[in-house]
Formats: sequence, C-alpha cells, structure tokens
Amino acid sequence: MIIGVPKEIKTNENRVALTPAGALELVKRGHTVYVQKTAGSGSGFEDKEYIEAGAKTLNSIEEVYAIADMIIKVKEPIEEEYPLVKDDQLVFTYFHFASYKKLTEAMLDSNAVCLAYETVKTEDNALPLLIPMSEVAGRMATQEGAKYLEKPMKGRGILLGGVPGVPPAKVLILGGGIVGTQAAKMAAGLGANVTILDISLDRLRYLADIMPPNVTTMYSNEYNIKRLIRNHDLIIGAVLIPGAKAPNLITRAMLKDMRAGTVLVDVAVDQGGCIETCKPTTHEDPIFIIDDIVHYCVANMPGAVPYTSTIALTNATLPYAIQLAEKGWRQACKDNKSLAEGLNVVNGKIVYKAVAEAFDMEYTPLAL
Ligand SMILES: NC(=O)c1ccc[n+]([C@@H]2O[C@H](COP(=O)([O-])OP(=O)(O)OC[C@H]3O[C@@H](n4cnc5c(N)ncnc54)[C@H](O)[C@@H]3O)[C@@H](O)[C@H]2O)c1
Repeated sequence: MIIGVPKEIKTNENRVALTPAGALELVKRGHTVYVQKTAGSGSGFEDKEYIEAGAKTLNSIEEVYAIADMIIKVKEPIEEEYPLVKDDQLVFTYFHFASYKKLTEAMLDSNAVCLAYETVKTEDNALPLLIPMSEVAGRMATQEGAKYLEKPMKGRGILLGGVPGVPPAKVLILGGGIVGTQAAKMAAGLGANVTILDISLDRLRYLADIMPPNVTTMYSNEYNIKRLIRNHDLIIGAVLIPGAKAPNLITRAMLKDMRAGTVLVDVAVDQGGCIETCKPTTHEDPIFIIDDIVHYCVANMPGAVPYTSTIALTNATLPYAIQLAEKGWRQACKDNKSLAEGLNVVNGKIVYKAVAEAFDMEYTPLAL
C-alpha cells in the first residue's frame, strides 16, 4: 500500500502521525511511505531520519494526498485540505466529526473512507487511541500546576513536595480515570499530599490498592468537594461522562472558599470543563485569574510536548496502521472489531450513529 504522511497545518500542531520507527515498520513489510518534507520537524524528527528508515519525502501536501492510498494524520483535515482528499482514499486520523458539520459534509462529498482514532474501541470499551493523550495531559496537569503555584506565576508560593520541616502542598484531583491517575502519580511522586475523588467505587478501590500512602481516595460528592477545596493548593479537574458535557463540580460561588493563589487545572475543559469559571485557553496565554484563583484551562495540553505526544500516539496507532496497510480497510475491519468501530464515514455514507444523530443526517449501518 502507498501511505502518505502530510505535515499538520492546523495552528500550533507540531505532532506528526508517523515516526521514523513507524516508517521502518511499514517499509519492511513492503509498503511505500511518503512523508511531506519537514512533517516531523516539530516533533524533533528530521527528513533524513525518515529517508534512512526507507521512506521517501515529497515537497508539498498536494503531492502526498495525490499519491497515497492511505493518509495517516493527527488532526482532522482543515478546509484547505478538504479538496485534497480523494475518492476511496482511506484517511486515518482524529476527526471528532460531531463537532464539525462542514468537515462531515466535505468528507461525505469526497467519497473517502474516514477512520477516526477517537472512536476505535476495544471490547472492554476502552478508547486505545485517546488514552495516550490523556496520559500526557494527566502528567502535565501536575507539572503545570506545580509551576503556577510559584509566586511569580501568581500562585500561593508553595513547593509541591515541601522540604524537611515544611509540609508539602495538598493536591485535589476530581476524577480518577486515566488523566486523574497519571496526575496523582506525578504529584505523589513529588511528595505532595494527594486526594482523588471519583464516583466509581470500583475505581476508588483500584486506586486505593495501587497508589502510594500519600494518596487518599474519597467518594465524589458536593459535600466532600466543598470541604476539600478550602485547604487544597492545586485542584485538577479530570472527570469525564462519556458523550456528555462535564458536570460543574466547582461553581463560581465556591471560589471565595479557596485560599488566594490556589491553582485550578481543568483538564476536562475540552468537554466543557468541570469548573464553572473555566473557559478554554491556549499555550500562548494559558492562565487567567478570577477572585485571586489561578485558572489553567488549555484545551490541547499534549500540544506543548510534541516529542512525547507524537511517540505516545504513534505507539498506539501504528499497530492499527499496519493492519490497514497489510489487509486494506475492508478486511482489516472485518478481522478486528475495534478498528471497525473507528469507521465514521465510508464512501459518502455516515456509518457512525452518533455522528448522524449530531447533524440529523442519514445513518447507514456498517453491515449494509
Ligand atoms: N485538555 C486536554 O488537553 C485533554 C487531553 C486529554 C484528555 N482530556 C480530557 O480529560 C478528561 C478526562 O479524561 P480521562 O481519559 O481521564 O477519562 P476517564 O473516563 O478515564 O476518567 C474519567 C473519570 O471521571 C470519573 N467521574 C465522572 N463523574 C465524576 C464526578 N462527578 N466526580 C468525580 N469523578 C467523576 C469517572 O468515574 C472516571 O473515573 C476528559 O474530558 C478528556 O476529554 C483533556
């Protein structure tokens, strides 16, 4: 199969969908890989590394789309890319169709086959191509939180781990899923005093088993949240209710109960946020202050660490990309139900129910 890797052109996107290591794996199986020149440079991978791995480079994005049977990307195609997507071309990337009607219409018109990272789902209902980015965001949440607790950054001026003779900071984590667990591990590792709240008792049991002694688990309810926010220095929002907006667990009125310089990192901001006062920010301007409380609400946290994010993402996507290259999308999706879950748009038809429902458009079951 001919595989094309375009350079990402969405603003501030430095990730790339294939590393030189991934190119090597595809080439050694007999596939041809074309990478647009400088596609990997934002993540620290230079053209010569791809060439050494057996890939070929092309000058322009147009050439990559024109030659490839399968396009592997990171972000959804943006408007400039719509006309480049070809009839029957397989496009494997994050699409988030339900948020973009224009994109959905463009992909339907293109007659392409769109396999979305975010809906690939394993039998235990895990989303293997979203997990790596949650892992990155969770670990970053603690790192950013520690930074903004510093006085010059407008925080309380407390060191997360304390020092001998001075108690460490207190970190409250709302939601003990992938993001919350990774955030807790980092905070606990630095010596902070960590409390994780969740509404799943099974999850709390698991966390209580695996976490070190400086992590406490508690059931998430309004009463506990109201009490805990009064004396915690860093509060990380990491809840998710699949398919719904995040619940507002911290309201505007509750800010006055926190100490000045408390830092809020709302990782769930991409689902509307679980802190009422959070609105999406960018890496260029990541924080704002309300009532002396620092709010960090960057909606694409992994974008700040493209080297780590690219490798984490491609570790997860490559096994699927190899199956698609080896078998073609029809056979690969027949053989692997998880991959079939990723099909959203196939040759002018919406085959993913939630996308059709989002726009009140016609849904065609995959089997048809
Ligand atoms: N900002 C970013 O850059 C970025 C990056 C990755 C993920 N995210 C977002 O982070 C959020 C968390 O993702 P995840 O992968 O950890 O999800 P997850 O499903 O693994 O975990 C969510 C957890 O929240 C818990 N929960 C639900 N309602 C709760 C409540 N009322 N109180 C406490 N806990 C509650 C669930 O039981 C679950 O354990 C999502 O909104 C995701 O989109 C953001």
